[in-house]
Amino acid sequence: PDGDGVRQFELTLQAGRTEILPGLSTPTWGFNGAFLGPTLRAGRGDVVRVTVRNTLPEATSVHWHGMHLPAAMDGGPHQMVEPDAAWTPSWTVRQPAATLWYHPHPHGSTALHVYRGLAGMFILDDGEEHGLPTAYGVDDVPLVLQDKRFAADGSLAGDPLGGFYGILGDRMLANGALNARFDVTTERVRLRILNGANARMFNLAFADGRRFHVVGNDSGLLSAPVEVDRLPLTPGERAEVVVAFAPGERVVLRTLDNGVDLAKGNFDIMSFAAASELAPSPALPAHPADLPPITPPSGARVRTFTLNGRDTINSKQMDMDRIDVVVPAGATEVWEVATGGSSHNFHIHGAAFQVLEVDGAPPAAWAGGYKDTVFVRSRSSARLAVRFGTDTDPARPYMYHCHILRHEDAGMMGQFVVV
Ligand code: C2O
Ligand code: CU
Ligand code: CU
Repeated sequence: PDGDGVRQFELTLQAGRTEILPGLSTPTWGFNGAFLGPTLRAGRGDVVRVTVRNTLPEATSVHWHGMHLPAAMDGGPHQMVEPDAAWTPSWTVRQPAATLWYHPHPHGSTALHVYRGLAGMFILDDGEEHGLPTAYGVDDVPLVLQDKRFAADGSLAGDPLGGFYGILGDRMLANGALNARFDVTTERVRLRILNGANARMFNLAFADGRRFHVVGNDSGLLSAPVEVDRLPLTPGERAEVVVAFAPGERVVLRTLDNGVDLAKGNFDIMSFAAASELAPSPALPAHPADLPPITPPSGARVRTFTLNGRDTINSKQMDMDRIDVVVPAGATEVWEVATGGSSHNFHIHGAAFQVLEVDGAPPAAWAGGYKDTVFVRSRSSARLAVRFGTDTDPARPYMYHCHILRHEDAGMMGQFVVV
């Protein structure tokens, strides 16, 4: 879809059971079903209206991660939906084509609610010619990657609020399935990959080491494809990649231990099986998009955020009643995010940013586009150029936080208003 329509969606949060391990039934939560949620899709200029109904036994919220919208529609911890209640946010899409997602955001319970299965994708189109594959589920494929742990009876195991980082699972799920297989029917496939895990960094690679192209990340497509053979993705981050296949081949997508504590272990995630004849695909575009760089004006406001331990930013835990930062509408600011002895990632609601520097050097080319979540490994710092939205509301805050959900829930989160 593109332009000036009204997109009406119904999302019902519900409890159910899912067969994830063969022959066992896992209690799970989902949107409009037992596990995960439907892919929502809207175009630039569209009015989106959602009816969110909560049939769960506890209150939660639904946050539109990466969406630029008024704070009252953001679905953060201030927009709780009680059991048996409904919430009906609406907004107009005013941002470039991107792969966003939605998930609960109740303060203190996000890790548990996401772990039980509440997550879905929200794809935005902008009517522009990007030269990329566009047949949904055929050569334009959403992949929600998550790791879980299971008890012997099939129920989800592990404590989302336990340990330093929360859960690092030993079973890898793609779109909720173990050992998923995708049947490739075209020469190239565009994968829209979401790291929907609580804590794990996926360091993605194909078992045969083949190279692939990153064409987009969190908040928009790149100005040029970037060829890689590995791609690290931390919780909340998205990447769009294009992978080429030869007729008849079969290849496994894996995550590889890269020494970062969040990426522990080597695991197969899913396999791709190519048909003996493949339909032709468009050539890889030289310029998937042409987004203007986010450039801080001279004299731009600089703010510093230090992520300490597992629960504070600038030595403070999240306080629902405290506004930490006041940003002028439409401002571009420089936010510097630093870590101590542990790794974190940093997400900002309602804004797009570009990574200017990591430890004083420009970021890798694949991290060069519009983002909303960035990994900052231990004893490092990232300098971000953040462009804030123009929807003002002095009373309702947006959040910034570590997207390792155990840390977010423990208080590694702050609040800002746009005025
Ligand atoms: Cu994906 Cu504040 O969240
Ligand atoms: Cu968000
Ligand atoms: Cu963290």
